[in-house]
Amino acid sequence: MSTVLAADDLNTYYGKSHILHGVSLSVNEGELIALLGRNGAGKTTTMRSIMGLTPPRSGRVQLFGQDVTGKPPYRIASLGVGYVPEGRKIFGHLTVHENLLVPPQTKGPWTIDAVYKLFPRLEERRTSKGGRLSGGEQEMLAIARALLLNPRFLILDEPSQGLAPVIVQEVMRTIARMKSEGMSILLVEQNAFLALQLADRAYVLSDGEVAYHGPAAELAADKERIEALAGVAHAG
Ligand SMILES: Nc1ncnc2c1ncn2[C@@H]1O[C@H](COP(=O)(O)OP(=O)(O)O)[C@@H](O)[C@H]1O
Ligand SMILES: [Mg+2]
Repeated sequence: MSTVLAADDLNTYYGKSHILHGVSLSVNEGELIALLGRNGAGKTTTMRSIMGLTPPRSGRVQLFGQDVTGKPPYRIASLGVGYVPEGRKIFGHLTVHENLLVPPQTKGPWTIDAVYKLFPRLEERRTSKGGRLSGGEQEMLAIARALLLNPRFLILDEPSQGLAPVIVQEVMRTIARMKSEGMSILLVEQNAFLALQLADRAYVLSDGEVAYHGPAAELAADKERIEALAGVAHAG
């Protein structure tokens, strides 16, 4: 099994605030890994450290066997890493279709036609401005845009945030489908219950440290532990 991501002993700061205290995590090819933890635990900072947006002050990030520590975000993305940031960040003044024309064309299975097949709702809304979409549609658009880069590895930061439960289910089904097509995925979620249904393994962050790491099924079976580590387990 080849290693997609190996983050080793990351220490990341915002100015003088020491946020990540020796975080290590790995993603193997074809795995879906859940990164859980309460609000403020350091999940987004971990993603930003991996992507080079807030580089770690010490520690090492390897992607596909290459050391990328300290490399700029565009270099990291160009290795085949798709990042869907928290809060979606789509272009509100561009139409759905125009948003999909923004990523540079890459070779691979994910074309505009293919993402419209995956998200028929986006095709229906192709001439609507991004800013007029519902939260769920915006999330789909953000995921679609990342897929157009034909990433080998996809990082999703809280895709369920602020969405109605039925839309959350749809987004989760899509993530499950991408996994079944062989994509390696790091899924950041506050909703542990949802993420653990899909994940192979899970990490739980607490105050910038890995407080738990193990098989997702093991953690899913222990509701009290989820609540103690990651806050409310959420029934869905
Ligand atoms: N730009 C920033 N400047 C200073 N502190 C920040 C910044 N972004 C996040 N933090 C702090 O870092 C900690 C971890 O935040 P974050 O990684 O966003 O957590 P999570 O994604 O798990 O909710 C929090 O205490 C937060 O207040
Ligand atoms: Mg976050």
